[in-house]
Amino acid sequence: MKNIFDAPFICEMRKTTANMYRLGWDERNGGNVSYLLTEEEVSEYLDTSKVIRTIPIGFKADDLIGKYFLVTGTGKYFKNVDGDIENNLGIIRIAPDGETAELIWGYKDGGRFTSELPAHLMSHMARLKVDPENRIVMHTHPTNTVAMTHIHPLDDKSFTRTIWGTCTECIVVFPEGIGVLPWMVCGNNEIGIATAEKMSDYRLVIWSQHGIYGAGKSLDETFGLIETVEKGAELYMKYASFPILNRITDDDLRALTKAFNIKFREDFLD
Ligand code: 13P
Ligand code: ZN
Repeated sequence: MKNIFDAPFICEMRKTTANMYRLGWDERNGGNVSYLLTEEEVSEYLDTSKVIRTIPIGFKADDLIGKYFLVTGTGKYFKNVDGDIENNLGIIRIAPDGETAELIWGYKDGGRFTSELPAHLMSHMARLKVDPENRIVMHTHPTNTVAMTHIHPLDDKSFTRTIWGTCTECIVVFPEGIGVLPWMVCGNNEIGIATAEKMSDYRLVIWSQHGIYGAGKSLDETFGLIETVEKGAELYMKYASFPILNRITDDDLRALTKAFNIKFREDFLD
């Protein structure tokens, strides 16, 4: 059996969480990531018949029975993932009852998966219906994105339009737009259900005055989505209080999507 420390999914997770921390998105234990793995991938490194312990997940995730996830631990600091994977990460399998997680590896100090597991698993279920290749759900607290939710209307259309207008690439990277939730209590099923509902239409969902969720096929793609929203939000926070002389117009955005042959949320433009 190969050494789990050499697994590509572990190496990617170490690099990605370190990068998120470096960018100031994940203070203290802020943020969490879940990565859907195949049985084949996991069994190259671990004996999947050995369950270390079971942990209730607090809701029924029947669509995910038998599926494996690499998940960051609750209360763990992204700053520390790279240097101590066995305490900060875990690999779980959803048990046949759909409401128990079987721990296959990790959380060595007795820890458990992120408190945001409901939002993660419910988002995986929603995205897999739209895109069977989706593997990642990522939650983080990017500074400018969170700042912008304090000063901007919070409906999907106007928030998306403002971010699309901040710089040319945004509509190309997320042409379906961004879902925005109002402030809600986090860590429970209710915010998980609300997030997953938005995930049927979007790969990006903002939690106002808290952070953002992204979903994608790979860690790179998902990180890139969030990074691009954060770039737009940073630009907005730099210019929003100045007199605006020049804008990207609705016609400019239409011309761009035509040139790149991109389908986008046309009802988000006037
Ligand atoms: P966890 O430490 O439980 O992952 O929570 C961090 C967080 O960002 C809560 O929204
Ligand atoms: Zn959070």
